[in-house]
Amino acid sequence: MEITTVPELSVRIGSLTLRTPVTTGSGTFGFGSEVAEFVDLNKIGAVTVKATSREARAGNPPLRMVETPAGVLNAIGLQNGGIENYLAEKAPFLRRYSVPIIVNVPGENPEDFAYVVRRLTDSGAADAIELNISCPNVSHGLDFATDPRLTAEVVATCRRATHLPLIAKLSPNVADIRPIAKAAEEAGADGLSLINTVIGTSIDAKKRRFRLANITGGLSGPAIKPIALLHVYRAAQAVEIPIIGMGGIMTATDAVEFLLAGASAVAVGTASFVNPAVAIEISEGIAAYLKENGFATVGALVGAIEP
Ligand SMILES: Cc1cc2nc3c(=O)[nH]c(=O)nc-3n(C[C@H](O)[C@H](O)[C@H](O)COP(=O)(O)O)c2cc1C
Repeated sequence: MEITTVPELSVRIGSLTLRTPVTTGSGTFGFGSEVAEFVDLNKIGAVTVKATSREARAGNPPLRMVETPAGVLNAIGLQNGGIENYLAEKAPFLRRYSVPIIVNVPGENPEDFAYVVRRLTDSGAADAIELNISCPNVSHGLDFATDPRLTAEVVATCRRATHLPLIAKLSPNVADIRPIAKAAEEAGADGLSLINTVIGTSIDAKKRRFRLANITGGLSGPAIKPIALLHVYRAAQAVEIPIIGMGGIMTATDAVEFLLAGASAVAVGTASFVNPAVAIEISEGIAAYLKENGFATVGALVGAIEP
């Protein structure tokens, strides 16, 4: 069946409307200015920017990135200039565009998260906030999303600090994502992002050493897509709130698989290093798939996997 009208690509995450269902994976698209020369930012569903913490962070020592078969292992460790630097130097550039901005926020405790959330809300420098409760690359227990109680604590504290849409970014490094997804929803999250990177390491047999100075890193890229698809499918069974699916999306077909698994939108991370315009190309590919298969809206595809 072929339909002649242009399919509706917009999706909603809480009160946020994305013009297309494709955003960028935090940490893989900088703050937009790094890529604006090559990509029309207004054609992306939303720009999700790099992690922005309360204080500036230097990140981990080098070496911080290693290629693996079908993936990348990174141990950047949330290097960033801090919230005041974001507000003064990064946000004004992105605000020249109409694209919604999702700011990724890490923290060492719930109050840390809430501080940045309040600053972003009061300054108007974000349209939605992604709580990074799942970074595997920092040494002092920032991986709140491996525990439903800690997940709920961070989300509830931030819920009290903002009216902006709150998206909890979850970790794949758990046996079962469902209780954690549910805990985030019950604590007031408007949406979930999953997955963050999969913890791993890399060893150089010749030198008999770990390749990453941090020893562990987070694996991303096509190698993690099957893991991501299963977590998205399971989380979508457990919650009503929308999910932004990510993990190894390189093509529109990959993105459609995430939508079928139950994601309402997708993010592309590692693929942007190869092609900064990939988020736009994937949106166009999703539109073509919808048309070819007789779907009038992206929403009609969400969770439409046959059992
Ligand atoms: C170099 C690099 C830096 C990243 N930095 C962040 C970050 O600051 N905050 C975050 O929540 N996720 C971060 N991520 C994770 C991605 O946003 C995404 O969840 C993950 O890479 C899976 O998607 P992908 O396979 O499409 O890259 C980073 C990933 C990479 C490769």
